Amino acid sequence: MRAIVIEQFGVLPTIQDVPTPEPAAGGVVLRVEATGLCRSDWHGWQGHDSDIVLPHVPGHELAGTITAVGEGVNGWQVGDRVTTPFICACGQCEQCKEGNHQVCPNQLQPGFNYWGSFAEYVALPFAEVNLVRMPESLDFDTAAGLGCRFATSFRAVHQVGRVEAGENVVIFGCGGVGLSAVMIAAALGARVIAVDTNPAALELARSYGATDTVQAAPETVQAIRDLTGGGAHVTMDALGSNEIVQQALLALRPRGRHLQVGLLPSGVRLDVSRLIGQELEWLGSHGMAAHTYPEMLDLVASGNLRPADLITRTIGLDEVPEALDALTAGTPAGVTVIRP
Ligand SMILES: NC(=O)c1ccc[n+]([C@@H]2O[C@H](COP(=O)([O-])OP(=O)(O)OC[C@H]3O[C@@H](n4cnc5c(N)ncnc54)[C@H](O)[C@@H]3O)[C@@H](O)[C@H]2O)c1
Ligand SMILES: [Zn+2]
Ligand SMILES: [Zn+2]
Repeated sequence: MRAIVIEQFGVLPTIQDVPTPEPAAGGVVLRVEATGLCRSDWHGWQGHDSDIVLPHVPGHELAGTITAVGEGVNGWQVGDRVTTPFICACGQCEQCKEGNHQVCPNQLQPGFNYWGSFAEYVALPFAEVNLVRMPESLDFDTAAGLGCRFATSFRAVHQVGRVEAGENVVIFGCGGVGLSAVMIAAALGARVIAVDTNPAALELARSYGATDTVQAAPETVQAIRDLTGGGAHVTMDALGSNEIVQQALLALRPRGRHLQVGLLPSGVRLDVSRLIGQELEWLGSHGMAAHTYPEMLDLVASGNLRPADLITRTIGLDEVPEALDALTAGTPAGVTVIRP
């Protein structure tokens, strides 16, 4: 099969012919119909993820059709249309038994722990725990986004952030994660303020329900404090940036919640006295468990959430190396989907 192969971190990957994967016991193989280009793929390519062993095939935000079913898998068949949380959980451990598959210590992530979906086929482990059946009405391009960024934002905003109608929510960074968060927070009835350096991303944010937009600048904190009359209830770092973290914490009102979704490979220094004195909540959020997908899928089916609208570009495998490289300098507005 054709796949994007990283031979060295930070060096442009190439398209190569590699062996088509076989399903493991308990797993399946999919023909990848669509796979999103997430900034986590860029982090992996840059060498920010210690799980990655070279040579490596990236790609973790995916949807496809089952082409092979491993030993012992019940309920799934060749031809089924599926997506999966990128965190493939074991289903057996204490965390999984409590329903917190997104923090399973035995999790396997395609495109990080093993070869991923920037390829014609991808293997998925623990199929019965993680596969999500696509409703008839859902197309593959949209379903791919539910494998990582849209679902991650759904969990962050709704499950972890507990965003409620009428709250002021500030989303810093309006790429795949951030625009999803804008749409989800707006659908929950929050007043959403979107912050980005790219005016085209802010324009999209408005079209997905942001009521105000702020061009990222040193004055961002004051602008948010003015717009919210004293600070936001919730802030979210949807890029992964020390600068954003500092601004977000200063933009919160007392007892505000900060959602950290963007990765911070170099770490971050927190003003802990402020966290204590203002009773601020610092909340990490990681993917979303497959068993909690029905609530999100229902909101998609009813049209209250429209993840299809986030897609602005569809490319082939040939264009992936260049698209990955371009993420070093910035992000094209909206979500890019790859059709291998
Ligand atoms: N926690 C999780 O489970 C999880 C899941 C998916 C992605 N992520 C991480 O989330 C982050 C975002 O991923 P993505 O694919 O949405 O990224 P992206 O590249 O699509 O979006 C980033 C956005 O940030 C904007 N930006 C750049 N500099 C800025 C600044 N100074 N202020 C405000 N905005 C700025 C860009 O213009 C762009 O719109 C990445 O770190 C990714 O690895 C985490
Ligand atoms: Zn991702
Ligand atoms: Zn587990």
